[in-house]
Amino acid sequence: MVTGGKNENVVWHSSKVSHEERCAVLHQEGIIVWFTGLSGSGKSTIAVELEKLLNDAGRAVYLLDGDNIRCGINSDLGFSDDDRNENIRRISEIAALFQDAGIITLVSFISPFRKMRQFAREKAGEGNFIEVYVNTDFETCRQRDPKGLYKKQIKHFTGKDSSYEAPVCPEITLDTVQNSPYECAKQVYDVIMEKRRRYE
Ligand code: ADX
Repeated sequence: MVTGGKNENVVWHSSKVSHEERCAVLHQEGIIVWFTGLSGSGKSTIAVELEKLLNDAGRAVYLLDGDNIRCGINSDLGFSDDDRNENIRRISEIAALFQDAGIITLVSFISPFRKMRQFAREKAGEGNFIEVYVNTDFETCRQRDPKGLYKKQIKHFTGKDSSYEAPVCPEITLDTVQNSPYECAKQVYDVIMEKRRRYE
């Protein structure tokens, strides 16, 4: 029986609709595609391309983007290690709900710590999680600096005075120096399309 953490009087209420039944309605299987990488690495640009590719192919897809989520539900969080962990904990829970609903869920967050990415993977469940490492080195991100943040002296900035733990065994690693955002998105798209067959 699942209970509500601190709230011992909260008990999980079951639904009459199963995950499989939701997926069958959408003719697809819910999955989480988790983009991780430094700020300015290209995560969100690639995720936006991928969202468009999937939508054009008739897939139910939604992008949860770090900056956007921090404008809303996570606007109370900053960039200390604890706040980043809470940021990722919340988005892991939210992404798992989207996945359960049958949506192809794209998540684009720096998500610098392995422990929390592992948490997200476990929340999603075995086989439902594709970790995409946008492997753009610090110097390239600093030179690109699309939001002008590397120029500013921001405290706890990832790669400067806040650490980034690169994935050890990601399902996909992208090279944004050799490939365009579209080419990177297509690489991920092909993996998703290869995997999803069950409800088509
Ligand atoms: S995470 O580390 O908690 O996963 P998240 O992906 O939500 O970060 O937000 C990162 C975005 O916030 C960056 O793309 C950048 O635009 C902005 N940002 C603002 N301050 C920082 C900082 N100190 N370190 C990294 N990114 C920052």
